[in-house]
Amino acid sequence: MSSSQNPLRDPRDRRLPRVPEPCALVVFGVTGDLARKKLIPAVYDLANRGLLPPGFVLLGFARRDWGDGDFEQIAKEAAKKGARTEFREEVWQRLAEATKFLPGSFDDDAAFDTLHQTLLDLDASHGTGGNAAFYLSIPPNAFPTVLKQMERTGMADNHATQSWRRVVVEKPFGHDLTSAIELNKLVDDVFSAKDVFRIDHYLGKETVQNLMALRFANELFEPIWNSHHIDSVQITMAEDVGIGTRAGFYEGTGAARDVLQNHLLQLLALTAMDEPVNFDADSLRTEKRKVLGAIKLPKELASYAVRGQYDQGWLAGERVKGFLAEQDIPAGSTTETYAAVRLDVDTRRWAGVPFYLRTGKRLPRRVTEIGIIFKKAPFLPFSKSDTEELGSNQLVVRVQPDEGVTLRFGSKVPGTTMEVRDVSMDFSYGEAFTENSPEAYERLLLDVLLGDASLFPQNEEVEESWRVVDPIEELWRQQDGEAAGLALYRAGEWGPKAADEMLARDGRTWRRP
Ligand code: BG6
Repeated sequence: MSSSQNPLRDPRDRRLPRVPEPCALVVFGVTGDLARKKLIPAVYDLANRGLLPPGFVLLGFARRDWGDGDFEQIAKEAAKKGARTEFREEVWQRLAEATKFLPGSFDDDAAFDTLHQTLLDLDASHGTGGNAAFYLSIPPNAFPTVLKQMERTGMADNHATQSWRRVVVEKPFGHDLTSAIELNKLVDDVFSAKDVFRIDHYLGKETVQNLMALRFANELFEPIWNSHHIDSVQITMAEDVGIGTRAGFYEGTGAARDVLQNHLLQLLALTAMDEPVNFDADSLRTEKRKVLGAIKLPKELASYAVRGQYDQGWLAGERVKGFLAEQDIPAGSTTETYAAVRLDVDTRRWAGVPFYLRTGKRLPRRVTEIGIIFKKAPFLPFSKSDTEELGSNQLVVRVQPDEGVTLRFGSKVPGTTMEVRDVSMDFSYGEAFTENSPEAYERLLLDVLLGDASLFPQNEEVEESWRVVDPIEELWRQQDGEAAGLALYRAGEWGPKAADEMLARDGRTWRRP
């Protein structure tokens, strides 16, 4: 009897591991960075945890002229290097037997015909049940070609069978609202909406999901989660790395499209949304979408949308190049590597509470956090000097790397005086739990194979997010013409001064994470 038939088991009970049905996972662009660093290790980790079904097949498709043996070797190295769980030869061997590589370019009809035939053969030889998930780990400009090939060959079509076909699309989903709508239309022509999984890997992070547990499983926070008690929210996603060898993708994309449009706005949505009636995909996405649709940009956008580009500097004792000196970046590029904006959420809950979002590369360290800054107490029955060191109460969700939650509040300094100073109370994942968290891609890949779309933003969310980002991009494009607006910041510093000035204008300062 399957769990869904067991009358004693609540179908929403997710404590027991769920194993997907037999299926093929086809990765387009399998020789790329993402596949090697994240996807292959994630597949290995799932295999190692016993979460892949018998009848699972991994099919890599890319331009390179590799045979199965070469691919296996490279995939093995990738798994060894990137896996979260221990590397075990026997697990790898089993996976390797179910791994196949097909070379071909995206406009090569014959290669796609072979791929289609291979999927049919694998069903016969490995019992994949005709189920397939197609992962588009490829540059966005190649999406249309690949989608059309899938449509042409009929490999995306499951109408005549009981099997499922799903597509996973990596961000950025379009480069503005118009292109996102076009792309959505294209994807919808080939796959039905419920079979499209748009990946925002931040939603796969354990700490991001914990935001929902924190807010909706406790009595403590929800009553004060509103403009009566909250002064402002600061969401920071800082990285110490530069763009490395990703110029091809990053140049012309920039921090706002790369991170703000997706990761930061999703974090905002989860922070600001109302309680969903339950955690199924529709209910969750509906609440997030309401928030994204209620976001208002400031009237004086030029004062509240700051962009910067890293200059050379020092990081962790090492001298690092400026953005313009990075490999393949054209002279005079105005691509931003830092973006900070103020957004407002026009709802009763959030009226008057600014949300400050910032992201940047080559900042002092890698840290992502959501800082909820509370209002000051309306009256303090202490002398002014006693509370000189008292700041605002803060609740900080530490998304990474030191996963946990910090609560900052005032406490009496021991001694005969009534001096009050800020202290921190910490919850740390590492100390509270013995098991370590799955990687975001591990969790999300499993969800794709299980057909659980809760942690994948839907079409409308993507479009609402572009509605927020497009005017900012447009403003910056105009500023380019006037040679204004792009501020340099030294690598190893917390972004351009203009970002500090933006908060100072509102009488606030950035948290130092
Ligand atoms: C990706 C961005 O989505 O997220 C990269 O394209 C960024 O530019 C990366 O480096 C950061 O991910 P994480 O999980 O390391 O915070």
